[in-house]
Order: sequence, then structure tokens, then C-alpha cells
Amino acid sequence: MASTFDVEDAAQPNRRDFLYIATGAMAAVGAAAVAWPLIDQMNPDAAALALASIEVDISALEPGMSLTVKWRGKPVFIRNRTEKEIDEAKSVPVSALPDQNARNPNLAADAPATDENRAAAGKEAWLVQIGICTHLGCVPLGQQGVYGGYFCPCHGSVYDTAGRIRSGPAPENLHIPVYSFVTDTRLKIG
Ligand code: FES
Repeated sequence: MASTFDVEDAAQPNRRDFLYIATGAMAAVGAAAVAWPLIDQMNPDAAALALASIEVDISALEPGMSLTVKWRGKPVFIRNRTEKEIDEAKSVPVSALPDQNARNPNLAADAPATDENRAAAGKEAWLVQIGICTHLGCVPLGQQGVYGGYFCPCHGSVYDTAGRIRSGPAPENLHIPVYSFVTDTRLKIG
């Protein structure tokens, strides 16, 4: 399906979502501000490299808070989930999911869409996803929808707190980028 991010066609109505902080997370605004100057200060060669991978300081993200950063022209949702959000995602059997693939390039291509396979390895609270609806490429809204995960207002796709599609026209779970934790508070995407 068309999951490519078309800035001209898809992003305009949702541009505000790039820095959408869902739960009054003023501290997360600071985290976003930390990420970008690192790139701005680099020389052009290094800046080009930075497009391939970025590092994000996530130290300000308390449980329940989320942050959106831009990577390779795409929004990436970083979310520190609450216990309740994790428990809700874990309670859903994979067999009940419309898309049973984890869509996680950090794992085997056929890894099932368990909560464990959607979250960061060894850090189940953390969810890192490309913030592009797998239907036609809109940017979903975080902490919304009946599952408290993500809601795409374009055509009503609803994702759960593991970013898995639960209802609506989107055919796949939100995709996960290649990423790793550099430290407990620093994430490398790409
Ligand atoms: S683009 Fe998200 S539901 Fe259509």
C-alpha cells in the first residue's frame, strides 16, 4: 500500500502533528529542541549523514509522554508508554489483529506482531514508529482513538498502544524504523 510520505499531498493538513505533544508534555518540547541543534551545527557533509541517522535525547519523556521527530523527511513517533498502555497492548492476542506482522526491521521479517516485538528490545515501555498511516500516508494523531493509541483522521484508521492497526482501512501496523538505544536516554534512529 501507499505508505510513502508525500509532503505536498499528505502532510499539509497535519503539519502541526510533527511537534504534536499529546499529554501536556512540556518537557518533551525541550527534548525536541535538543535534537535539532545537533544537526544545525554540523557542516554540510555531516548534515547529509545526519539525514541517514539521527540521535534523539529522550531523557525528558516521562511515562505517558511522546515526542515526534523528523527523520529522512518522515515523522517518527517516540512514546514512553504507561503500564496501563503496555498491559492493554499485551492483552490482545496476535490472532485478533488485522495485521499479524510486527513490521519491525530490527527483527526477522516474519516476526509476529506481539507487543514485545513492537516495543524496543528489553525496554517494553518504549515504542518507536514511523508516524505515517499505512493507508494513504496521513500523519495519525497520538494518544487518541478508542484504544488510546493513534487515530488517523483522514479515513478513520485506529491503531492501538503498540501501533497496530485495529480498525479502519489501513492494511498494516505502523512501520518501525531501524533504531537502537545508544544509552538509556539516547536513541539512534537509522
Ligand atoms: S490515510 Fe490514514 S486512514 Fe486513510
